[in-house]
Amino acid sequence: MIKIALMGAGRIGALHARNIAASDEARIHVVYDTSAAAAQALADRYGATAVDSADRVFEDAQVDAVFICSPTDTHVPFSERAVRSGKAVFCEKPIDLNLESVMSIVALLREYPVPFMTGFHRRFDASTRRIREHVDTGRVGELEFMRVMSRDPGPPPPAYVARSGGIFRDMTIHDLDLCRWLTGREFTRVFARGFNLFDAGTKAEGDFDTATATLWDDKGFSVVLQNSRRSNGGFDQRIEVMGSAASVGMENVPLTQTRLILPDGLKCDALPDHFPQRYGGAYVAQLAEFLSAVKERRQPMTTAVDGVAALQLADACALSAANQTVVGIEPIALSLGVK
Ligand SMILES: NC(=O)c1ccc[n+]([C@@H]2O[C@H](COP(=O)([O-])OP(=O)(O)OC[C@H]3O[C@@H](n4cnc5c(N)ncnc54)[C@H](O)[C@@H]3O)[C@@H](O)[C@H]2O)c1
Repeated sequence: MIKIALMGAGRIGALHARNIAASDEARIHVVYDTSAAAAQALADRYGATAVDSADRVFEDAQVDAVFICSPTDTHVPFSERAVRSGKAVFCEKPIDLNLESVMSIVALLREYPVPFMTGFHRRFDASTRRIREHVDTGRVGELEFMRVMSRDPGPPPPAYVARSGGIFRDMTIHDLDLCRWLTGREFTRVFARGFNLFDAGTKAEGDFDTATATLWDDKGFSVVLQNSRRSNGGFDQRIEVMGSAASVGMENVPLTQTRLILPDGLKCDALPDHFPQRYGGAYVAQLAEFLSAVKERRQPMTTAVDGVAALQLADACALSAANQTVVGIEPIALSLGVK
């Protein structure tokens, strides 16, 4: 049984805790949160122990793996301590908002090669996996164009926005990771724009509520992606990859397959509220991959290098949007020679 320490008992920490508790292969051993009440509540729910300091997690020899689900600015210090203590790490995205700090984790992992997973759960969704399969096996042919639509149901609270690193590093980063992973391409140019169309709270924090980006690789393959912190119909997630032989895509997945037949047309069921509903299965599959990597002492499918590569693209988007210029990129992932 793999013993897990959970850092951060908030929104995403609670989601991972539920999946860990349901797994036959792992259990939550300790929970740490700066809110003692939050740590205690989650620990009580799953028969774990709440601890009052991060030190107690890293000093506990029984902890095999650390799930870092606390705010982004804690990820690197917690990752460093976990890696140096020989514990496997699952780290929520983004690993940090500073590229050099994320690179420091990649370097540390060379010294202490413990399994380290970055939380890009969308790779584990059944539909995205199928898209990748079709691209990988060549059914789509030579890739020409990709479009990605990713719209949240509503803006997060200003306090979250303030620590998030902005829409490109917080939200677009998931799509940027998918663009790399689904196509196997590294992008060398980006042009992005950000807009404040509707949310005063986001604007007050100096962030955009709406963003559009175009990315290109050296072969002329291009991607257009659109993000919004608002969607009128629920959590909106659509992808299409077009190639010389076929196009493959993913439409929104309604809650059920029912169709209401009305005199003036058909009505399908509602879309999921947000990511826990739409990607519930992906989080479970992501956990399974992490636990396998821990057992096999190998790197999981989404590595720290993937965290670096996605952040590099997100930084380029943010810079492009700030200056309204095309930004060139020398993909770090290529220079590291790893995926
Ligand atoms: N992959 C995903 O789908 C996904 C979804 C949501 C959030 N996230 C990421 O997860 C992280 C947390 O986001 P959230 O939405 O759960 O936030 P949240 O605010 O709901 O929860 C964060 C929790 O961490 C606690 N905390 C604050 N400082 C701490 C510290 N120093 N040590 C331990 N605990 C501390 C808070 O008290 C809170 O309970 C962020 O980095 C975010 O980008 C990822």
